[in-house]
Amino acid sequence: MKEPWFKDSVVYQVYPRSFRDSDGDGIGDLRGITAKLDYLKALGVDVVWLSPVYQSPNDDNGYDISDYRAIMGEFGTMADFDALLDALHARGLKLVMDLVVNHSSDEHPWFVEACKSKDSPYRDYYIWRAPREGAEPNNWASAFGGPAWTLHEPTGEYYLHLFSKKQPDLNWENPQLRQEVYALMRFWLDKGVDGFRMDVINMISKAPGLPDAPVTAPQRRWQVPGPLVFHGPRLGEFLCEMKHEVLSRYDLITVGEAPCATPEHGIQLTHEEDGFLNMLFQFEHVDLDTDPALGLGKWGLKGLDLLDLKATMSRWQRELHGRGWNSLYLSNHDQPRPVSRFGDDGRWRVESAKMLGTFLHLLQGTPYIYQGEELGMTNVRFDSIAEYRDIETLNLWREAVHERGMDPAQVMAAIHAKSRDNARTPMQWDDGPNAGFSSGTPWIGVNPNYREINAQRALADPGSVFHHYRRLIELRRTLPVVVHGRYELLLPEHPEIYAYTRTLGAERLLVICNFGSGTPRCELPEDFSFDRPELLIANYPVDEGSDIRSFTLRPYEARAYRL
Ligand code: NOJ
Repeated sequence: MKEPWFKDSVVYQVYPRSFRDSDGDGIGDLRGITAKLDYLKALGVDVVWLSPVYQSPNDDNGYDISDYRAIMGEFGTMADFDALLDALHARGLKLVMDLVVNHSSDEHPWFVEACKSKDSPYRDYYIWRAPREGAEPNNWASAFGGPAWTLHEPTGEYYLHLFSKKQPDLNWENPQLRQEVYALMRFWLDKGVDGFRMDVINMISKAPGLPDAPVTAPQRRWQVPGPLVFHGPRLGEFLCEMKHEVLSRYDLITVGEAPCATPEHGIQLTHEEDGFLNMLFQFEHVDLDTDPALGLGKWGLKGLDLLDLKATMSRWQRELHGRGWNSLYLSNHDQPRPVSRFGDDGRWRVESAKMLGTFLHLLQGTPYIYQGEELGMTNVRFDSIAEYRDIETLNLWREAVHERGMDPAQVMAAIHAKSRDNARTPMQWDDGPNAGFSSGTPWIGVNPNYREINAQRALADPGSVFHHYRRLIELRRTLPVVVHGRYELLLPEHPEIYAYTRTLGAERLLVICNFGSGTPRCELPEDFSFDRPELLIANYPVDEGSDIRSFTLRPYEARAYRL
């Protein structure tokens, strides 16, 4: 049987606002992306995922859509979009669009109509509730701070918004709304797009009755709704309908963003026969450096314990093997830069960026590269809150510093570590003005390290992170064991070394990664047998024929062998 193409593809995520500005207004655009496709081709990826390019008032940078069938003016026109799609296809690249249908913008005509009267046919496209004792209908917090409900005064009811108040949640219980979503999906697929990344898709079915959330942060008025808004009882039914109405009729790639998903959810949603989606973005591994006991959500910082990472990744690898499929990612537009977060963005920047890439790309699943990750781009440390743009970051500052009186230095430290703007500073193309991103004033500051870290330099340097990623992609393309091999963890208790094997028939890969700046000794188990190991990739020079049963690893060293 021919395996589906999503399994051996590598996806590159473009955040259009920050990728490349072609017209000097300081905002990345579609023509800018088209101009850089040869760069992506040189890297070797197969698929490009665009964060939303639809019309939007940009309360949440395009994740608040006011017209699902129009292109955002700042990004260009539909003709620019068509030209981009053609240019991608001409190079054998596929295009994945972001599908944001848990919520729309409050400026979407559906919501505007819904607000006109309680009898509007669009009223039920959203989730409305009468006040409870004169206040919010329940105690849910919005993901961006404050309550998840806003009162619409003219009609006297509250509407639900799990994100900002300009992102009202759509009511998937309404069959008409669901048909609207399927129709807009067909609109893009009929244009020729090759798939969807589905924003928080496991939130479209909520707990019946929208009950209060348990009080986990007593000092707070609003509580994180957690499981009450994920994997609700009708999720499978809605996705089954979507599969029947749309997905099964096209040859496409689908990835569902699924916060709070467990491997069991993963199997259920991606099972080859009875599943609905090709793969998920699960969050367990990117939540490991957060301490829930601090009650600060993602801002409560804790160092990563490698044993936790091994346990989490291994569980997903083992449980989905042969049953479902998964994505592999360390970064995206919501996450800090991996080299700053899990590596060392100073002395060992290049080595640790390569190590993290090696670790991730040789696992089972479809790898995602977020723009700039292939250059080892780092977090940014803006001095002042005035330089930040992200709604989540700005809301945190207002709440923590101005409303709760927290120490601004402590809040800024959390922002430096975790703000989404770390990923959103402009792509660093060269060492010219604004890193070659724009001839105008960029909408967000360029990371000052662009003279050292940029694409032009990386392309010219055979030892760059870029060329290491290119080689990793090539390995996936040439060795079926990288795509299909069974995963096994080695040295499970080692606190610094992450080592694993992948096996497919007689083919076996061995991957050894040092996750720290120390020089630990790698001692393979005695019963671990191999013949003549062939070095496939490494981030340091390795002597041919050197002993691999027992050797000392250099800081952030990574090696992969074919055994
Ligand atoms: C997840 C997206 O990745 C994020 O950027 C956005 O803010 C929320 N969903 C809401 O759409």
